[in-house]
Amino acid sequence: MRFLMKLLVLSCLLIVVYQYSQCTELSRASLNSDTSENSLKLQYLQAFKEKRSVSEQQLAPFNAKVGVASSNVPAYSNGNDSYYSGEDSYLYGTYMGLKWQCVEYARRWTFLRKSSVFESVEGANNMWTQLKYVERVADKKQFSLKHHPNGSPTPPTNESYLIYPINKGAPYGHVAVIVDVLPNAIRIAEQNYYFNYWTKNYSRELPVTYRNGLYYVQDISEIYGWMEIDDKKELKPLDEITARRIQMKNAPTLDSNSICSHMNVHIYLFILFLCLCFGYFMFF
Ligand SMILES: *[C@@H]1O[C@H](CO)[C@@H](O)[C@H](O)[C@H]1NC(C)=O
Ligand SMILES: *[C@@H]1O[C@H](CO)[C@@H](O)[C@H](O)[C@H]1NC(C)=O
Ligand SMILES: *[C@@H]1O[C@H](CO)[C@@H](O)[C@H](O)[C@H]1NC(C)=O
Repeated sequence: MRFLMKLLVLSCLLIVVYQYSQCTELSRASLNSDTSENSLKLQYLQAFKEKRSVSEQQLAPFNAKVGVASSNVPAYSNGNDSYYSGEDSYLYGTYMGLKWQCVEYARRWTFLRKSSVFESVEGANNMWTQLKYVERVADKKQFSLKHHPNGSPTPPTNESYLIYPINKGAPYGHVAVIVDVLPNAIRIAEQNYYFNYWTKNYSRELPVTYRNGLYYVQDISEIYGWMEIDDKKELKPLDEITARRIQMKNAPTLDSNSICSHMNVHIYLFILFLCLCFGYFMFF
């Protein structure tokens, strides 16, 4: 009888311990997913510190923040153009691309400045032929992309994508975002083209020429043209409330987190304590 009681208490203890460990594991897992969503922010902080400690002449190592365009879209160094990190970049639980490729920058810029993303592409060069629209994340409304070949009757427009075909130095082509338009030049922001720190709020300034009624953006390599987001000024920068909403929607561990809340963890600990007390006074 005594042995049976002991066994009962022991198994009760085991169950409680098991449940408790399950719970802490789950809450740890959900915490981890939180941190992975926040890891970009941490990355930003870390990169910022790195930037301050390195002189402006030096090449930026992988993950270092090289500059910020459009007031809040940081660009990070890919280290060199042969490096493939294989690391995913997420912002508010939304996939941005691979750290720190040019397409990742273009998508993150679109997310932060236009609350939208574009679909996945094999390489930046494919954007020219494949992408027909950007999609607002909150309501999935699509806004079409207007293609303007390099050599167009209208000058390049601000906040458009500048797309490059595959060439010797760029096996996947290249994409930059036009962040400012001057009378005879454009300013662009980009990742994975050069690896130095920006001195201003853009990476490069490219001249725009006008010949035989057509506008051309000049660069050392060939350019397909620019793609304009045809949103009639409807798309707005991502605000805090929308960002939080998107993050909530993307958080898959929300349910398990609420089942095994801190409250529950404490209850298990309490039951464990009771069992121990009970066992101690009954049998020892
Ligand atoms: C870039 O910085 C300059 C000077 O601080 C500012 O006047 C300009 O508006 C900024 N441009 C963009 C596109 O943020
Ligand atoms: C490119 O950068 C990566 C990451 O910083 C580094 O491991 C690799 O050695 C670099 N490759 C070259 C050719 O510099
Ligand atoms: C281009 O757009 C940026 C915002 O993304 C703005 O700050 C800048 O003034 C615009 N430039 C022109 C020439 O409209």
